[in-house]
Amino acid sequence: MVAKKPSQSALDYIQNRRKEMSTKYEIAIRTIDTKLELLKEEFKTLKKRDCISMIQSRIKSDASILEKITRKELSVDLEFGYAKLDDIVGIRVICKFIDDVYMVAQKLSAQDDFVVLEIKDYIKHPKTNGYRSYHMIVEVPILFEEAQEYVKVEIQIRTVAMDFWASLEHDIKYKKDSCECEDIVEELKSCADTITIADQRMMELRDKVLKKHLKYQQNVC
Ligand code: GTP
Ligand code: MG
Repeated sequence: MVAKKPSQSALDYIQNRRKEMSTKYEIAIRTIDTKLELLKEEFKTLKKRDCISMIQSRIKSDASILEKITRKELSVDLEFGYAKLDDIVGIRVICKFIDDVYMVAQKLSAQDDFVVLEIKDYIKHPKTNGYRSYHMIVEVPILFEEAQEYVKVEIQIRTVAMDFWASLEHDIKYKKDSCECEDIVEELKSCADTITIADQRMMELRDKVLKKHLKYQQNVC
């Protein structure tokens, strides 16, 4: 099967493969969702506030899988190309503050049944367009028909502010080559920089208020 040009046979292959895999994908999503829900509760007890605002998950569509195999010229052999994709299952964790992102990432990395395959820290090293987010590719163990298997999952962890920028930028231009003109790129980058400063200031404000509150409590007692 050749993946260079999207053909009916390529689409058929992907549709069948996804049908075969969909239960495993769902189990992987539920496994991570459960872990994240537990982490959310743990953080609430620890920090006395919500650190995770939202958890979203998605399974890549057939068209999107085919588009990526073709775009990345992964392989002339479609089956091999499909196997190389590590973001068919995606989870996005939206946190309130920057340090919450790292706390979630650290806790996920410490799960002894997860295998962390790759980390891309676009917060410490933003993309040139200003994109910021913390990406992890993990292998999640699942039990399927009494056998243990591993499913690759891409986990994106970012703040509400980073998510605000990414989702609007995605709508405006992501993967539209025609929008690569310098003024648009610069404008988007400038918005990302403003958001980064706001993210930092909100974290500082949070700590300032907490400090004042603790001092107040000490004085009252
Ligand atoms: P793609 O998944 O094809 O983009 O390539 P990749 O796996 O090499 O890229 P990367 O790991 O950097 O990005 C994976 C995902 O992060 C993408 O599918 C998007 O969801 C998100 N992402 C990466 N870069 C950008 C960006 O510049 N803007 C936005 N809005 N999202 C991005
Ligand atoms: Mg990727």
